[in-house]
Amino acid sequence: MRHLLFYLLMALLTGGEDLALSYGAGTKTISAAGEEGPQTRLMVASDLHYLSPSLTDHGSCFTELARNGDGKVMEYSQELVEAFVDTVLEKKPDALILTGDLTFNGARKSHEDLADKLARIEEAGIPVAVLSGNHDLWNKNAASFSGDRVTFEESVSAKEFKEIYFPFGFEEACAQDETSSSYIWEPAAGLRIVMLDVNGAAQACSVSEDTLKWLEDQLKEGQEAGDRMIAFSHQNLMWHSMFADGYMIENSREVFDLYQKYGVAANFSGHLHIQRIGELDGFYEVVTSALSVSPLHYGEIAVKGKVLDYSTESVDVSAWAGKNGRTEKELLEFGDYARRFFLDTFYRQAEEKLAGVKDEEQKDRMADYFAWQNYRYFSGCPAGPGDEKLLRAWKGSETFFGMYLEGIAGEEKDQNRITVEFR
Ligand SMILES: [Fe+2]
Repeated sequence: MRHLLFYLLMALLTGGEDLALSYGAGTKTISAAGEEGPQTRLMVASDLHYLSPSLTDHGSCFTELARNGDGKVMEYSQELVEAFVDTVLEKKPDALILTGDLTFNGARKSHEDLADKLARIEEAGIPVAVLSGNHDLWNKNAASFSGDRVTFEESVSAKEFKEIYFPFGFEEACAQDETSSSYIWEPAAGLRIVMLDVNGAAQACSVSEDTLKWLEDQLKEGQEAGDRMIAFSHQNLMWHSMFADGYMIENSREVFDLYQKYGVAANFSGHLHIQRIGELDGFYEVVTSALSVSPLHYGEIAVKGKVLDYSTESVDVSAWAGKNGRTEKELLEFGDYARRFFLDTFYRQAEEKLAGVKDEEQKDRMADYFAWQNYRYFSGCPAGPGDEKLLRAWKGSETFFGMYLEGIAGEEKDQNRITVEFR
């Protein structure tokens, strides 16, 4: 989100015509529930940005950083992830898949603590599979926070990432790529999952020739076996709305063509922090918004026969807090706290852009409008243009925020559920 303005400009300049999508296909009349055969239930989450509690004393430096960030509820990272782990244990899916940016800036200690939490899930008989994100490896910003001080901390390499998370996907993999951390996994008979990594690879954010060759061999094998195939990645395969450069896999067209050729039904990714569903030529990409940003989404995938249903849920931190005897108001009303945190973050950013507006009441209305529109967009529940007068005022402000609002104002479709048919 920090580079929103740059990407917005890039998108406007490039037109984003390659792999541009139609959006929010919604629920079709078919559903996995009506299919024959056993059902496989997967949970997917992305962008946890977990920070080990040993790396912060919640002093001024850390709280300022969280407050001036991109809406992540970093001050409650520990509680949020604990509540999520308990949710997984309660829901007992057939598998949990995490699509990268597991940690806040890749500190080794955060990875190790998170792996301990994931071990609790596997001990309960629920397999976990992970991918790294761009924040997880070789991160020079890995740090701890004490009072008003930042201390840089050790991050991890791709090799160390695989060692720490070996039980979570790599151990169960039925095939692994030698030149990246990509692997193939079958959480249920006849369901082949591609875990495509572009962050531990030699050239970040692109898929090498060697990996493409390996991928094609795996897809061919899956097709010949008659497997149903879906894929996961951290960065996006397609161009979603106004975010492209830095968000999409650079040579995503080649991956897309392979997925189309061999009948992969959909790709599930993250990284954007925005809830999006796109479709191109019968292929779907589902971007699950960040677990660490209100509304604290994770996805539920039900696969039965030739149909897959996807929908989002929010982590119920309040219920977790109640069960665990926590008394902090923020935790007991966490849904409201997280939404307010997001709105305040973007209200402040919008207010800064409106320094030239002298009417304080108008400035307040415009900043509030921006924050709410952005919230709806991020949560995948856009509500149309809303107050036309405020939208016009933003358009007239000649700021990038005005252009951004114009871009998202036409969005009306729900991005939170989709039904996909395997081919
Ligand atoms: Fe990311």
